[in-house]
Amino acid sequence: MAKPWLLALSIITSLLFSSVSPDFNYVRPPPGKIITLKSNKPESHPQQVHVSAVGNEYMRVSWITDDKHAPSVVDYGKVTGKYEWSATGEQTKYHYFFYSSGLIHHVKVGPLEPNTIYFYRCGKAGDEYTFKTSPATLPIEFAVIGDLGQTEWTASTLAHVDSSNYDMLLLPGDLSYADTQQTLWDSFGRFVEKYASKRPWMVTEGNHEVESFLFFIEPFKAYNARWLMPYEESGSTSNLYYSFDVAGGSVHVIMLGSYTDFDSNSDQYKWLVSDLKKVNRERTPWLIVLLHAPWYNTNSAHQGEGESMRQSLESLLYAAHVDLVFAGHVHAYERFTRIYDNKADPCGPMYITIGDGGNREGLALDFEEDHKSVSLSMFREASFGHGRLKVLNGTHAHWSWHRNQDSDSSVADEIWIESLSSVDACKTSGKSSSSSSSLNDEL
Ligand SMILES: [Fe+2]
Repeated sequence: MAKPWLLALSIITSLLFSSVSPDFNYVRPPPGKIITLKSNKPESHPQQVHVSAVGNEYMRVSWITDDKHAPSVVDYGKVTGKYEWSATGEQTKYHYFFYSSGLIHHVKVGPLEPNTIYFYRCGKAGDEYTFKTSPATLPIEFAVIGDLGQTEWTASTLAHVDSSNYDMLLLPGDLSYADTQQTLWDSFGRFVEKYASKRPWMVTEGNHEVESFLFFIEPFKAYNARWLMPYEESGSTSNLYYSFDVAGGSVHVIMLGSYTDFDSNSDQYKWLVSDLKKVNRERTPWLIVLLHAPWYNTNSAHQGEGESMRQSLESLLYAAHVDLVFAGHVHAYERFTRIYDNKADPCGPMYITIGDGGNREGLALDFEEDHKSVSLSMFREASFGHGRLKVLNGTHAHWSWHRNQDSDSSVADEIWIESLSSVDACKTSGKSSSSSSSLNDEL
């Protein structure tokens, strides 16, 4: 899709971008080798196929064709090769300087039955794919990966994730690390297709998705075109923050945007207030938030970058008794205790940084021994890996972090988590409970 001299121009613009990184002092270890994948398919055949959940009964199938006239149609059914249903959607494309994307198709299919495998074909051409819908009730299993990229480490992480029969993947930002080289977005789409075409991938944006360039390129141009999420269905006006229910409404997931406005006058803030108001914790025992730049972090990488967002939004999450906050950005794993306003609080969310998916920048090795939050940090390690959250019922979930150990996946950290909606001392208000239980009572 791009000529060599255009690629060279992209690399130059990429270098310009990396020079404005706020991360001046941090020296990363050698990066993993990037794996780039070219298309070997006819122009009309779908590539870069991925699916995302839209409400409890629909899925959005997204793919790209080099053929600018290919139809945005998905044929699907419950038996291989027999497509009982068909749905038509929309298409878009974008330009980034001299790069022109292929035709990007988004088709919403459904209503679908829960916990069911569907066979589907995109654009009436090419291969048959399958996806599995999420269960309508608990239990449900999430895979959680941040800062993914497309390296040999990424390949290991995704293979490990795929070895579990998870229901949905949650990604708190930094997907392709294209960093203005738009062909790397295409390569990333091919890289993850094997996995993202068969389970819903729900993502929010990181700093590597911004890709703005002065007045010429608006932020998130490629990300918004390629990774359309169900923001309208949650009353949001931006693809950069949204929410959705899963497991019949037993779990509400909120995806926040670290790189769009979040002050008290912002659209994101107002949307978050209204979204949290709609959550009935009698019906929805689990409330989970994802964002990119962590609010709590004892690694020297990206220190303080999430602080202004924390100051703006933390009290809202605390008052709503959010159970878990996942972040990325720091290329390591770190699990904190429950926290509110820099202090351990049994009614605050548990914070987990999971920015260790496998990107090209390498690991953030330097955890600070004298950091002010070190007593709140329960487990921290700079290794690549992924997380699994199994929400078993209305009161208990199991979290595990799986380190990439050579070619194997090894459980390095795990914990049982109790929903705050089932803790009487936390039900009355958003204020800290005086009947403080042990910090580690969930360990
Ligand atoms: Fe990041």
